[in-house]
Amino acid sequence: MSPEIQTLFDAALAAQQQAHAPYSQFPVGAALRCERGLVHVGCNIENAAYPSGWCAEPTAISHMIVSGSREVRELLVIGNSDEACSPCGLCRQRLNEFVKDSGIRVHMAHPQRGLLKTVSFAELYPHRFGGEHL
Ligand code: THU
Repeated sequence: MSPEIQTLFDAALAAQQQAHAPYSQFPVGAALRCERGLVHVGCNIENAAYPSGWCAEPTAISHMIVSGSREVRELLVIGNSDEACSPCGLCRQRLNEFVKDSGIRVHMAHPQRGLLKTVSFAELYPHRFGGEHL
């Protein structure tokens, strides 16, 4: 793992440990690097009223926005599944709002097995819908 990815991995792992996931028992951590080179983290936060819960990625986006940054340059998601934990459809659209270069890397990792997969944002979310369509 490169030092840049290792930094995201360590941050996402720490965030995963803060997840509130009593219903799915599937804690997720996310770490993203913004245009200022800062790392912002998030975890999933579930709710007894299931649809009121949300994913790790929007938590990380929220931290990025409130810090004053506006662009996602790299993202790592960590989950305990055998298959690489991939951002859900809704999160792809949420991320899209703040991804300017669709070539940015999205990493998927496992706490013990490390980095499982890396794709570009364009591979993750082709034919994306953005503000330019409106
Ligand atoms: N989840 C995330 O937080 N991010 C993903 O990329 C995939 C799914 C969460 C949502 C829910 O709390 C749990 O994982 C099970 O779906």
